[in-house]
Amino acid sequence: MADKSAYVEVFGCLQNEADGEALRGVLRGMGYAFTPAAADADLVVLVSCAVREKAEQRLYGRLGSLARGGKPGRVVAVCGCAPQLPAARDTIRRSYPHVNLLFAPGEIASLPALLSALTASGERLFTPIGAQAPPETAAPPPLRAAGPKANVSVMTGCNNACSYCVVPRARGPERSRSPERIEEEVRALVADGYTEIWLLGQNVCSYAFGFPALLRRLAAIDGRFALRFMTSHPKDTGEELFRVMASCEKVAPFLHLPVQSGSDNMLRAMNRGYTREEYLGTVRLARAHVPALNLTSDIIVGFPGESEEDFCATLSLLEEVRFNHLFTFLYSPRSGTPAAALPCGLSAAEKKGRFARLLDAQKRLESA
Ligand code: 5AD
Ligand code: SF4
Repeated sequence: MADKSAYVEVFGCLQNEADGEALRGVLRGMGYAFTPAAADADLVVLVSCAVREKAEQRLYGRLGSLARGGKPGRVVAVCGCAPQLPAARDTIRRSYPHVNLLFAPGEIASLPALLSALTASGERLFTPIGAQAPPETAAPPPLRAAGPKANVSVMTGCNNACSYCVVPRARGPERSRSPERIEEEVRALVADGYTEIWLLGQNVCSYAFGFPALLRRLAAIDGRFALRFMTSHPKDTGEELFRVMASCEKVAPFLHLPVQSGSDNMLRAMNRGYTREEYLGTVRLARAHVPALNLTSDIIVGFPGESEEDFCATLSLLEEVRFNHLFTFLYSPRSGTPAAALPCGLSAAEKKGRFARLLDAQKRLESA
C-alpha cells in the first residue's frame, strides 16, 4: 500500500481539468495514492480558476474549509490561474497561512522538486508568477479519467488582450506543443480505447504549426474516434478549418466560437478584434461548409458602458445566429485588466435584469 496519499480538486475550465490529470500523473509517479477526502490526504492540491470573481471566491471558500482538521504535517498547495495574479497571491499569503505551496501551471512536472524544496526549507514556497519547469524535466503521462473522453492540451497561454480577461496574465504567452508529440499522444489514447478526443487550448486556431493541418494529421490516425476542440477565437477561425471539418469524418461538426457581444461598440471596448458583421460572416461560412454544425458561444452581459441598445444588439445576434447552446456570464471586473478601470454605469439590478432577458431569449430560441 502506498504510504502517502494525495487529494486533487479542480475548478474551472477544461484546460484546468487537463492540468489536474497531468498533476495526478506526476503524483502517481511519486508513489502517491489518491483519496476522495481532503481530510485523509498528506497532500492537497487545488487547481484554481480566477476568470471571474465568483471562481476566486469559491477557491477562498474551499481554502477556508481546509484551515482546520486534516492530517498533521499535511501540505496544502494551490496551482492553476489564481496564484498567477498578484491580488489573489496577496490574499492567499495574508488570509490562508495554511497554504504551504503556490506554483504555476507550467511547473506541474517540477512538483517533486518543489515538494522536496518545501520539506527542506520548512518555509512556505510561492514560486514566481509565470514560472516554468526546466525544459529537460520529464513529465510522466497524465492520469486520465475513464473514457470515452480524453483531454489533450495542444497549446497553452493566450496572446490576445481582451480588455476584461485575466487569462493572458494567468497563463502567459501562447506555447504550442509539437504536432509529433500530439500525434503520439492521440495514437496512444485511441489504442487505449478513448473515442472522444478533445484538443484543448485557450485559442486553438492560433496553434503555431497550423490547426487545420494538425486536425488533418490526427484524423488520419486509424481507429474509431472523434476529434473535438476548444476554444476558437473568431478572429483566427477561417475557411480552412471548416473545409477540414467538412471533409474529415473524424472531426466532429462542433464549434465553440465565443462572440461575447453583438454590439460593435462593446466588441471594440472589449478589444476582441472583429466586428459583428465579421463574426456573422464567419458563422455563414462555417455553415456553408458544415450545414449540421453544432455551434455554441459565450456572452458577457453588463460590460462597462453597455447601453440598452448594445444589449439589444446581442439579443438580435442570438436571433440571427441561433446558437445550439450558450454560456452566459455577468461581467466581473478583474484586478489588473484594462476594463477594471472603466466606470460601470449599470446597477446590479440592471445587469441582473439583462442577464435574465438573455437567458429567456436563448431558452425560447433553443425550444423553438
Ligand atoms: N467577466 C465575465 N466573464 C468573463 N469571461 C472571461 N473573463 C470574464 C470576466 N472578467 C468569460 C468569457 C470567456 C469565458 C471563458 O469566460 O465569455 O469566453
Ligand atoms: Fe479559469 Fe480561465 Fe484559468 Fe481556465 S483559463 S482556469 S477558465 S481563468
